[in-house]
Amino acid sequence: MKALTYTKPGRFALIEKPKPEILNPKDAVVRVTLSSICSSDLHILHGAVPQAEVGITVGHELVGVVEAVGSDVSKVKPGDRVAVNVETFCGDCFYCKRGYVNNCTSGGWMLGCRINGGQAEYVRVPYADNGLTPIPDNVSDEQALFVGDILATGYWAATISEISEEDTVLIIGAGPTGLCTLECVQLYNPQRIVVCEADESRRRFVRQHYPDVKVIEPTECLEVLKSLTEDRGADRVIEVAGGEESFELAWRCARPNAIVTIGALYETEQILPLPWMYGKNLTFKTGGVDACDCDKIMQLISEGKIDTTHLITHRFPLSRIQEAYDLFANRSDNVIKTAIHPD
Ligand SMILES: NC(=O)c1ccc[n+]([C@@H]2O[C@H](COP(=O)([O-])OP(=O)(O)OC[C@H]3O[C@@H](n4cnc5c(N)ncnc54)[C@H](O)[C@@H]3O)[C@@H](O)[C@H]2O)c1
Ligand SMILES: [Zn+2]
Ligand SMILES: [Zn+2]
Repeated sequence: MKALTYTKPGRFALIEKPKPEILNPKDAVVRVTLSSICSSDLHILHGAVPQAEVGITVGHELVGVVEAVGSDVSKVKPGDRVAVNVETFCGDCFYCKRGYVNNCTSGGWMLGCRINGGQAEYVRVPYADNGLTPIPDNVSDEQALFVGDILATGYWAATISEISEEDTVLIIGAGPTGLCTLECVQLYNPQRIVVCEADESRRRFVRQHYPDVKVIEPTECLEVLKSLTEDRGADRVIEVAGGEESFELAWRCARPNAIVTIGALYETEQILPLPWMYGKNLTFKTGGVDACDCDKIMQLISEGKIDTTHLITHRFPLSRIQEAYDLFANRSDNVIKTAIHPD
């Protein structure tokens, strides 16, 4: 089968590999029907993910059809349509039992990083009962594509932000993850949602698809938030930009006693200037996504309460995946997300 492979830092190549097989009774093998490219894939390409192993097939955002299951798999059977979870987790360890599956002692981000992933024709998924989410008949592959990664992240970020209906929620960054976060923040019906985005075409995208949301630029963010909240600032801030200035923007725009959720992953250290923050009494929540609510997210999609299909702006066959990478990496043609289908 064809598999996009991390052959050395700076290079992915679409090469022939054997079709994966069941190695463990808890495994499933999935035939990939749609996959996508994530900014984390670009980090691997640039050699910036030390745990990524040379030789692995990349890709961790995908949906497909179950081809085979091991003897201990009970949730899915061959022929079932499924979304694949970015995180591999056992379900039994200290962290998994508490829902902190990102810290599973025998899992974490494995697929497309430490074990072969899904920008290929087939993929083996360990702990398949946890790592696969069945797709209902009324949900298309495109609707389900982001469930296991960026939608899981948006859902997690919105959940831990403890949003109420009185809140003014500020989302910083309207990339794919920010937009998924926006979809999930809307579920809590806050009084107001403000999206701050640096890029003009992305601001236009948010205005077009979310007319009820206030869309602003970073330079006006603090001022606008104060004017909307009797000079207090945002009740909840979710930082999903990961830019040079967005961390500072996040705590500055938060009102005293706000919750600031940091979904972004930074390339450099960020400073908490505590003398300047004295009296703000902020609660910071940080981390990697605990992607354990995928069944709930799938249900919300099925009920029409979450829709991310408009994020797919470009489509390519697997044989042309390198073109999709170039487009995505250069943010050409106002791309938000690409979908990769079999040839
Ligand atoms: N916590 C997790 O487990 C998890 C999961 C997925 C993604 N992420 C992180 O979320 C972040 C966003 O991911 P993405 O795929 O959407 O990336 P992206 O780079 O496409 O999106 C970031 C957006 O933020 C905007 N931006 C940059 N600086 C800004 C600023 N100062 N003010 C306002 N907007 C600004 C950019 O223009 C861009 O549109 C990344 O840091 C990514 O690593 C974290
Ligand atoms: Zn990802
Ligand atoms: Zn575990």
